[in-house]
Amino acid sequence: MIIAIANNKGGVGKSTLAVHLATWLHRRGRSVILADCDTQQSSSEWVREVQPDLRTETYRDADAILNEFPSLKNEAEFIIADGPGSNSETSRALLLLADFALVPCKASMLEVRALAKVTEVLRQAQDIRGGMPPSVIVLSMVGKNYRLTKDMKDAATALSLPVASTSVTLRQIYADAPGQGTVVWDMKARTRDAANELDRLFAEIMPGTACEPTAATKEIPA
Ligand SMILES: Nc1ncnc2c1ncn2[C@@H]1O[C@H](COP(=O)(O)OP(=O)(O)OP(=O)(O)O)[C@@H](O)[C@H]1O
Ligand SMILES: [Mg+2]
Repeated sequence: MIIAIANNKGGVGKSTLAVHLATWLHRRGRSVILADCDTQQSSSEWVREVQPDLRTETYRDADAILNEFPSLKNEAEFIIADGPGSNSETSRALLLLADFALVPCKASMLEVRALAKVTEVLRQAQDIRGGMPPSVIVLSMVGKNYRLTKDMKDAATALSLPVASTSVTLRQIYADAPGQGTVVWDMKARTRDAANELDRLFAEIMPGTACEPTAATKEIPA
């Protein structure tokens, strides 16, 4: 299945989620390809440092995705596609082919309003493919004591997109991980909360894939 991590807005946590989700699935014995669809190619480089045996592919534009994704789909159980921050043609191509879309979004009304762009692309995809890919908003970089406001809930409801009940908290450790070529499960200091929240999030949005994790990704007791 193709899982697109998409939001035209830049810097909302797409690559962070893509690298962690691909690694999480791989370490649970699933076959995974990280499809880096951002010309900056930061997630494929990051994955190669974290998990050299996890296959990565890079795609330079929408044509490459439309031409090559259909056969790629037969080569692994999960294609985790990291979308670009600004190229809407590429996002459109991704959402046309995706079986499931993860839409990271910073937790503010402004950001939720900006999601209208993603929903527009999802609707276009729906018209062309005869159905919208199941999609879920993942709130990212949220403050520790943050609660989803009624305004934001209403805005998400109006977009007909569910919001994952587990959010990704704003933590220095996420910002440090790419520079260290690692993922939160492998970082020694201050990682327990981040590691556990990603385990919870992925178990929530990827039901049926929570098979026995390797020692490195086992939930650390509180
Ligand atoms: N939960 C978090 N807490 C703190 N920093 C974060 C978190 N998630 C991501 N970051 C940092 O925020 C920045 C943007 O994240 P990321 O690169 O994952 O976003 P993106 O949507 O892929 O961006 P782009 O659109 O440019 O590709 C990075 O420096 C990343 O390390
Ligand atoms: Mg990115």
